Amino acid sequence: MIKMMRMVAVVFLLVILAVEATWCQTGEATMPQIVEKDGRHALLVNEKPFLILGGQAHNSSAWPGMLPQVWSAIEAMHANTLEVPIYWEQLEPQPGKFDFSLVDTLLNQGRVHKVHLVLLWFATWKNGSNHYMPEWMKREAAKYPNITGRNGQPVDSPSPHTQAAMEADAKAFAAVMGYLKKADPQHTVLMVQVENEPGAWGSVRDYSANAQKLFEGAVPAELLKPEILKALNKPVDVKGTWQEVFGDDADEYIHAWSVARYIGYVAAAGKAVNPLPLYVNAALRDPITNPKANTYESGGPTDNVIPIWKAAAPAIDLLAPDIYISNSEKALKIIDLYCRPDNPLFVPEIGSGEEYSRYLYAVIAHGGIGFSPFGIDDNGQGQGKAETEARLASIAQEYAMAGPMMRELAKWSFEGKIKYVVETEDHAEQTIDLDSWQAIVKFGASGWRENKPNSRPIGKAMVVQLGENEFVLIGTLCHFTFKPVGANEGKAWQYLKVEEGHYENGIFKLLRIRNGDETDWGGPRFNNMPVVLHTTLITR
Ligand code: DGJ
Repeated sequence: MIKMMRMVAVVFLLVILAVEATWCQTGEATMPQIVEKDGRHALLVNEKPFLILGGQAHNSSAWPGMLPQVWSAIEAMHANTLEVPIYWEQLEPQPGKFDFSLVDTLLNQGRVHKVHLVLLWFATWKNGSNHYMPEWMKREAAKYPNITGRNGQPVDSPSPHTQAAMEADAKAFAAVMGYLKKADPQHTVLMVQVENEPGAWGSVRDYSANAQKLFEGAVPAELLKPEILKALNKPVDVKGTWQEVFGDDADEYIHAWSVARYIGYVAAAGKAVNPLPLYVNAALRDPITNPKANTYESGGPTDNVIPIWKAAAPAIDLLAPDIYISNSEKALKIIDLYCRPDNPLFVPEIGSGEEYSRYLYAVIAHGGIGFSPFGIDDNGQGQGKAETEARLASIAQEYAMAGPMMRELAKWSFEGKIKYVVETEDHAEQTIDLDSWQAIVKFGASGWRENKPNSRPIGKAMVVQLGENEFVLIGTLCHFTFKPVGANEGKAWQYLKVEEGHYENGIFKLLRIRNGDETDWGGPRFNNMPVVLHTTLITR
């Protein structure tokens, strides 16, 4: 009996140690850091790859009275990270006088809930406008002007050409980063977003006299490097004014350059005092049709101007897409466009509906460092626990599966071992190449021998290749089978073992071995709830 009690105590201690190792609650932790290898990326937290399973609060929910609803949502969705704004207007109520009380509240509550934070610096730009500038700046429109439209009309978007505003933002942002350095040695905060969806709606660029002079001047040498011009599909040997070098794209490109330079300056000021990873999020344009710049937010890091942003704002670690397009061809194209050797993939905002959950698999398989549906809290609607849980059910079940194995997923993803498919609008069957095997994935809710088609395209699957014949299969609303190909072509085969279970502290815990009806009739089936199957195949 005493031996038994001792064993229970040891196991209990191991669990506590494992939780503490993942969540460093006290004392200093190492700086979160983004690393790159062979064009893939990982976010290292306490020196190991970490996958942000996040949720973003509504814009006005970072106030103490609103936070209980935010934490209920985070809990309901099993998220490990909360993305939450901090507001320049609240933080610097008078020039040079800073109030970090909301930051303190977030840090304290994040630690109590054992949830990391990504702070969103709502400052000069929030969705293209200046609405989070402090009152004392809003009252001085001449000193902190907005841009001017093509016909001289006022535009609700701050000028990126105003030194005074840029200096003020940089000073406040450096103060925030300096405060975090002191108040957050345990790195509750993993990353900071600089501004929010910057750029301008309602005008492609600034047409004020000052901006017009810049537009008629020479393009800066930094943008004339052949690799940048090539990436922008422009001739590499042209010099001259914006119009001469960039033609029809000149208006958008100068605005992108000016906004990125400003934000790059703010970011560099913060990074100099505290080198946390920094990113900027983008209000996207249609990723396929190359639309005109006056149809989307101009000047932000849309896919077509990523090279300009990279040149103008080197202190920014990554440019991140906010995905509110659920169509699979477009959403997957966006993921592709923002996953580049020079740009770690991170999706800081995405719709919270069921049709968006499938893209979590795409982000993980692409080596993405995180995923975060927007607007998770009830925004003051007074929803109860049950309503909140129902609203977030789809992503919650994915996070419940992925959370306990997030370190493994992040590592496999960094190593390029994960492949995926998501159900497309035509519900077509898809294949995944796995060297001497091909996985064939059909979508639908499983009956015993047949699939019932999904009414909406929400099925998904991922495969982690652990060895030649050894795989982890994860999915919902689909059905897997395998075909021997390449070196295995034409061979007879069977499942050696299909183990269903979950990962806990790095160890696979078996729930059951699937066999008989659960693997015959064409292979393992996945229903509504994501399931993890450790699967070994054999040829004979
Ligand atoms: C994108 C913005 O980045 C968010 O802050 C929020 O305004 C959402 N749009 C609302 O859909």
